[in-house]
Amino acid sequence: MPALDQLRLKHPEIAADFTIDQHWERYGADEHGMWRTLYERQAKVLPGRAAQEFLDGLAKLDLVSDRIPEFERLSDGLEKLTGWRVVAVPSLVPDDIFFDHLAHRRFPAGQFIRTPQQIDYIEEPDVFHDVFGHVPMLAHPVFADYMQAYGKGGQRALSEFGALKNLARLYWYTVEFGLIEKPEGLRIYGSGIVSSRTESIYAVESPSPNRIRFDLERVMRTNYRIDDFQESYFVIGSFEDLFQETYKDFAALYTKLASGPNYSPGDVLAGDRVHHRGTHTYIGGSHAA
Ligand code: PHE
Ligand code: CO
Repeated sequence: MPALDQLRLKHPEIAADFTIDQHWERYGADEHGMWRTLYERQAKVLPGRAAQEFLDGLAKLDLVSDRIPEFERLSDGLEKLTGWRVVAVPSLVPDDIFFDHLAHRRFPAGQFIRTPQQIDYIEEPDVFHDVFGHVPMLAHPVFADYMQAYGKGGQRALSEFGALKNLARLYWYTVEFGLIEKPEGLRIYGSGIVSSRTESIYAVESPSPNRIRFDLERVMRTNYRIDDFQESYFVIGSFEDLFQETYKDFAALYTKLASGPNYSPGDVLAGDRVHHRGTHTYIGGSHAA
């Protein structure tokens, strides 16, 4: 992650909290065209795969296919719904800065958009991933509260507990790659999935990945991979359940997590509730963790 002085070369106006001006007027036709291409691809694959809460957010925010959204206008609408705003940053920001933004209901979004060569894979989150992928869920009141609580929890994990790795896994397996169980079947809500055409299909339809019932401690002990489709997804029952499970003091849990096993992304454990075709079955045994 580049330091502030380095970023200042390209973004002279960068602030101490790593925000920059979106400079919406500087996007070219090709950049708006890339947004449109990505948007239209997702509009085709998401119905029947994405959680209704995500699709509702997309509709409420009036995100449209034909141009990269202007963060100020988008934020004015979002703020009326849940009090969140979107701020522009050059790329990934340091953890403490990220948590501070979330704790204040500001979502830092990459200002740039991927190039045609990067259409299916980028290492750093761009405006399509960050805005199309993340912002619709921020229009959902419970998820909006969860994200702010996560930011505050991140500040504690960093300053008091040294438990960043455990907490980052929670973000990864919910905010970025979460699935939710609905009466109609499993649906995606994680931004890393909903912003990817191929993973949107894979996460719901492929027989290959494990789909394991969300369990806070289990998730916090599980490593993740950043270079390929996930080998395991964790499935929540509802956003209310997720918020209830996490809106409690993690101090005792962090102490417990400091010893005991860590799991590999593909592991299935005795006691995991594994979902099959929208229902779940138990794999025998008791939870080892
Ligand atoms: N409850 C967590 C703590 O005590 C904070 C948190 C809330 C983290 C919600 C993630 C999501 O630190
Ligand atoms: Co993301």
